Amino acid sequence: MRLAGKKIVLGLTGGVACYKIAELTRSLGKAGATVQVVMTQAATQFITPVTMQAISGNTVFTDQWDARIHNNMPHIDLTRDADAIVIAPCSTNFMFKLAHGACDDLLSTLCIARPAHIPLLIAPAMNVEMWQNPATQRNVAQLKADNIRVMGPAAGDQACGETGMGRMLEPAQLLTEIIASFQAKSLAGKRLLITAGPTFEPIDPVRGITNLSSGKMGYAIAEAAWEAGAQVTLISGPTALAQPYGVQRIEVQTAQQMYDAVMTSLNTKSQDAFVAVAAVADWRVANASNQKIKKTCDSDTPQLEFAQNPDILALVAALPDAPYCVGFAAESENLLQYGAAKRAKKNIPLLVGNIGHQTFGKDDNELILFDVHGHQALGRADKKTLAGKLVSEIASRIKK
Ligand code: CTP
Repeated sequence: MRLAGKKIVLGLTGGVACYKIAELTRSLGKAGATVQVVMTQAATQFITPVTMQAISGNTVFTDQWDARIHNNMPHIDLTRDADAIVIAPCSTNFMFKLAHGACDDLLSTLCIARPAHIPLLIAPAMNVEMWQNPATQRNVAQLKADNIRVMGPAAGDQACGETGMGRMLEPAQLLTEIIASFQAKSLAGKRLLITAGPTFEPIDPVRGITNLSSGKMGYAIAEAAWEAGAQVTLISGPTALAQPYGVQRIEVQTAQQMYDAVMTSLNTKSQDAFVAVAAVADWRVANASNQKIKKTCDSDTPQLEFAQNPDILALVAALPDAPYCVGFAAESENLLQYGAAKRAKKNIPLLVGNIGHQTFGKDDNELILFDVHGHQALGRADKKTLAGKLVSEIASRIKK
């Protein structure tokens, strides 16, 4: 319920992408928001006010002269208790109107008449040529200069059959953007490099050694850091998770590949913090076979030999210009003792301890922070909540 108590005025303008707004409305409601839908006449050609009213649970307004508002001023009354106005889809024409201050229908008048403290977010949706047109690009630049948040658009297949920039973001991505717009930007201008998930160390082309890490904690931290305004690079071992919106993900398999990707990222761009959440395999199979190992007779068992993998976190922490390093400790017992010892051994300012087998694959976790002053419990919560708390901690420590 990350939008609990929020009122969103959701404006629809003309575009095929209107069909996706039914789903956005539903997910805003599930996240706890109250949704007040306002539609232009063009939008009603694509989806009906009946559908939008049924899904939002609130009367839909389309007309500036709607007498159902007691003082007949819907352009004022509909936004005065709003927390944000979201225009999705936002057509080429509506962007032009916003950029030039037009007010010739209810939705454009309502946008112009909004008090300055109410954020306005738009999700452009149009044909690629319409998006690339210099007139549209001039309007986009003007809207950004006017502090209007432009969400997307994305590139891809379009309803008209052409391909390119101009697709509206998907409803889940818009929801993420809207939630992020309410978060404090404690990591604005900062770059974070995060490792997540397990690594997979091959035995042969069809078998390997891995662990039970799902990647959920690392991915939640990547999402929370993006929401807090950071540029995030996520180096991920094999997981079943979707790429977090706004985050650059580099997929790897082995610990050596993860190490190489971390070092390449650090050499390409300096990073403010390195958060090592991955459950990296300590050993790889030194005598891995290029061909599938066959079972030749019943008593025959392959003899595996192991070599140590690079300790990515310790090696990053030892760099002369090391970013602020945050480690994770997945222990099975004695967390307080092992956590403090591990932080000192890896020579890092902050270590986050958890009991590995109680959290791998689960949606909640219990974290303990270890620093030079001792330890502090973040308590038990779902991984997204803990990720938000941890990101605030990292932000305050980077600022010092
Ligand atoms: N880590 C790493 N590279 C490795 C091993 C661990 O970057 N080869 C990082 C993990 O991402 C984590 C921290 O080091 O942030 C601690 O990982 P953990 O497996 O708990 O500790 P180990 O150093 O492997 O110690 P042990 O397995 O003996 O507890």
